[in-house]
Amino acid sequence: MSAARGEKDADEGEEEKEESNSVRSEDESVDALVVPTTASITRRSRIWIPVWTLCLLALMLLDLVSGSVPCPKEGCLCVAKQVTCSGAGLTEFPKNIFVDVESLSFVRNKIKRIPQNYFKQFKKLKRLYLDKNVISEVPAHFLEGLPSGMDAISLQDNKLRFLAPFSFGGIRDVGDISLQKNELRAIKEFAFAGTTHVNMLMLGGNPMQRIDGWAFSGLTDVNFLELPRGIGALAPDAFHGLHRVGFMPLAGLNLTELRANVFRELRNVSVLSLVDSSVGNVAVGSLDGVRGVQNLDVFNNTFLTFEELRIGVESEVQALKVEGNSFKGIGVPGLIHFRASRSLSVSGNTFPCDCRIHRILKEPPEGFADTNYCNAPVEVAGMTIKLALNVTGVERCPEDLVSEPTSSSSQYKASAGDRNFLPRLTLTYFLLGFLFITQENVLIFE
Ligand SMILES: *[C@@H]1O[C@H](CO)[C@@H](O)[C@H](O)[C@H]1NC(C)=O
Ligand SMILES: *[C@@H]1O[C@H](CO)[C@@H](O)[C@H](O)[C@H]1NC(C)=O
Ligand SMILES: *[C@@H]1O[C@H](CO)[C@@H](O)[C@H](O)[C@H]1NC(C)=O
Ligand SMILES: *[C@@H]1O[C@H](CO)[C@@H](O)[C@H](O)[C@H]1NC(C)=O
Repeated sequence: MSAARGEKDADEGEEEKEESNSVRSEDESVDALVVPTTASITRRSRIWIPVWTLCLLALMLLDLVSGSVPCPKEGCLCVAKQVTCSGAGLTEFPKNIFVDVESLSFVRNKIKRIPQNYFKQFKKLKRLYLDKNVISEVPAHFLEGLPSGMDAISLQDNKLRFLAPFSFGGIRDVGDISLQKNELRAIKEFAFAGTTHVNMLMLGGNPMQRIDGWAFSGLTDVNFLELPRGIGALAPDAFHGLHRVGFMPLAGLNLTELRANVFRELRNVSVLSLVDSSVGNVAVGSLDGVRGVQNLDVFNNTFLTFEELRIGVESEVQALKVEGNSFKGIGVPGLIHFRASRSLSVSGNTFPCDCRIHRILKEPPEGFADTNYCNAPVEVAGMTIKLALNVTGVERCPEDLVSEPTSSSSQYKASAGDRNFLPRLTLTYFLLGFLFITQENVLIFE
């Protein structure tokens, strides 16, 4: 048994004293121990003094070398400023951890819960690993008080079912927050309130059903945000408050609807991608409120019906790629309007080729490739749009429908709210008027 441990055992059961010891520095606790012990030995027997002193010195040296005073005895290893209690069968966090610890690992234990305020004592912590436990919930603000500039906080492979409001709130400048492979079904509003500058936030491998509005609110700056596949619902304002994101890949979503204002206030994203997803309906205004996206990539998705898929000039999207998607356009006819200020590429997509398709070819925008195909009606399915038109001569829509704005087109007039885009028709743009809106009728938007 080490000298430091002797002190710790003596303190056991004395809550207050324990607390004061835990904030005491390493050197102080060693001094406090040695003086009385040596004194009592002196009284008992002079002969033993050199042996005891030597023993104590040796033990102290060992402890100083390992630099881990005090070290929990429950299967933990303390080396320098690291405390590792991996695979120790722990069901709760041990007491008496050296408060100046920089790396704490409790990987592969059976810890169920995190006591409120437990981590606040570690003011110098840089890395915290709680992977492979059975933690099913965490208290609000449980990380608050940890220093800014931490490298990693990892709770992978636990049993977290949802992220409650404020659970991960109040930390700054974190390298990676890893929450993969939990049982997360939802992220509640304000789960990350007040947590800024996170390099990577990893949420993959969770059976996420939905992301609530304001879920990431306050998490202003994330370099890489990884969301799990299979998300079933994104609430309006799901990404509100995420002011800056470097890379945000949305893959494998399974949305019944892409609702209005889902991406509202996503202001400064370097790369936003929507890949391999199945989207039921695309509601009017789904992309409203997106600002300053440098690259927007829409790859290999299926859109069943769409009321409107519109990226307006106010979105300030610089480069837009729409590739390999299937726009089924079943049921409700809709409007597709893509715009990018720097470059636009629309290729390898399929569209329904009824009479409305003529609007695409009337003035095909720069970036609209020949490799866009028809998926309906059946006679032209699989042909390129150009070929389908040439070979079978898809009829044009009746002129009267073209000139008379319908009641639903005035609905779009109201919802579009984009009074600026027409004067800039020289910008790269693509307009597919599934509402029988010709170029002339588009003037309605003015
Ligand atoms: C997508 O969601 C529907 C229910 O809306 C479900 O029936 C289907 O299995 C899901 N598909 C995938 C690939 O998760
Ligand atoms: C967007 O983020 C970049 C850093 O990636 C920054 O330089 C720029 O000022 C930000 N723009 C706005 C409008 O916040
Ligand atoms: C889209 O699908 C094509 C063909 O299946 C594939 O080659 C390509 O890599 C996919 N793109 C993305 C971004 O997944
Ligand atoms: C349409 O067909 C005519 C002759 O049948 C041909 O000259 C023309 O190049 C074709 N146009 C396209 C776009 O394939």
